[in-house]
Amino acid sequence: MELKKIKDGVFWVGAVDWDRRLFDSLIPLPDGTSYNSFLIRGGEKTALIDTVDPSKSALLMAQLEGVDKIDYIISHHAEQDHSGAIPLVLEKYKNAKVLASAKGKEFLMDLLSIPAERITAVSDGETLDLGGKTIEFISTPWVHWPETISTYLREDKIIFTCDMFGSHLAASGLYVEDEAKVCDAAKRYYAEVMMPFRTTIRRHIERVEKYDIEIIAPSHGPLHKNVKRILSSHREWVSDKLTNTVVIPYATMHGSTELMVDYLTEALTRLGVNVEKFNLAVTDTGKLTMAVVDAATLVVASPTVLTGAHPSVISAIFLINALRPKLKFASVIGTYGWAGKMLEQVTSTISGLKVEMIEPVIVKGRPKGDDLVKLDRLASDIAKRHKENNIV
Ligand code: FEO
Repeated sequence: MELKKIKDGVFWVGAVDWDRRLFDSLIPLPDGTSYNSFLIRGGEKTALIDTVDPSKSALLMAQLEGVDKIDYIISHHAEQDHSGAIPLVLEKYKNAKVLASAKGKEFLMDLLSIPAERITAVSDGETLDLGGKTIEFISTPWVHWPETISTYLREDKIIFTCDMFGSHLAASGLYVEDEAKVCDAAKRYYAEVMMPFRTTIRRHIERVEKYDIEIIAPSHGPLHKNVKRILSSHREWVSDKLTNTVVIPYATMHGSTELMVDYLTEALTRLGVNVEKFNLAVTDTGKLTMAVVDAATLVVASPTVLTGAHPSVISAIFLINALRPKLKFASVIGTYGWAGKMLEQVTSTISGLKVEMIEPVIVKGRPKGDDLVKLDRLASDIAKRHKENNIV
């Protein structure tokens, strides 16, 4: 099989997964994904950078059919989608050594039962000479696991960044063609996986920027030749900059909570505040997480089910709380029939967010005159806070 060449001696040997629609039983993949694996042939040694998800290992092995030796398998990240096929590759290449961070070694032993004697731990700044091809190991933990490393191929100016700068996007070509589409997919990926590690990633970006780079080769999605563009998008997402936007995830059972959401949306729009609302009965979780990457305010809207909030609301805000977006303000609106602890449940579920809570509006039954006045007040409070904080 002819390998896809990136540069002399550097080949893509990964797999495109056009049909995958869910990751971790949590993350929607509307556009599939790819597992990028790379073969680097030096004058003396050959290295494989990452493998593929076990479900696609046949594709990787087919590409390695004519490769008689692999000396090193570099594992950037022990998660299955990159390291899951390492045991198979080790079986074929009996002398191959796995190179990973010290933490990565531990994870590969724990998760994939790879024997310790076949793994060598590498450190930040260490290099590997393949003969005319020098690989530098760069420690880039917490994107999104603690063991992750990146590698820089000096002679070819390619940086392999694993999940960082990746996108879940199946494509036939190796490189980014539609920049806006890839940027959108990369933002989705950042939002769903990387957002809790915003400040760490900021430091990684500063470090990556110091390298002379022609190609950024992540482990998912197309490779970036427009290095500036993908770096600047990420720089913006990890920055402290907020947009004049309110995100409203909501559930509605008989229409009363939706009436409140619609009324608040109109009131905010009149005051010049953008609104992104998400009906959780139909919404794509990825779109919701993308919306909170840079929005200033979250308003959670829920009816009362039995004694508490709607389960779909709890599920969505549990995820938002875990992703730790840079939101600055939050509030709660919603309805109840006779009693319940919806408000308490919602506020405790988002207690990990570092936000200023704005007076909630909780209504008995359908919203009426006074309730609408309170929603107008909430809209004004939000608009005022955005202005005071120069969020425009
Ligand atoms: Fe693409 Fe964290 O695995």
